[in-house]
Amino acid sequence: MTNASPRFARVLAADELRDGELMPVEIDGTPVVLVRHLGAFYAVQNNCSHRDFPLSEAGFDPRDAVLVCAWHGGCFDVRSGAAVVPPATEAVETFPVRVRDGWVEIGLTGSLAPQRGAA
Ligand code: FES
Repeated sequence: MTNASPRFARVLAADELRDGELMPVEIDGTPVVLVRHLGAFYAVQNNCSHRDFPLSEAGFDPRDAVLVCAWHGGCFDVRSGAAVVPPATEAVETFPVRVRDGWVEIGLTGSLAPQRGAA
């Protein structure tokens, strides 16, 4: 069992997102929310683990680097995906992010990885 290097998908120009802003993006049909925090970019699944609610509608609290779900207030650390405030108890998936040539790219791993046998 080896983990292959992720394939990165270009999603937007780095200067399109300011610090503290978030933006929904979709990669291969999977919803992801991209967050810029202290100059770094983070990508997490765009579905709250408490209920199926888009985290792209969440608030962002830069003091703790958390997304605050707009439905019930559950909070997720954008750096780890950890659920840090109930009623959310399960982490959300995170994805590697890099900046190349001024573009933000998200790594296709986990649920975004190409499925075996996929074209
Ligand atoms: S749907 Fe997000 S905390 Fe309930």
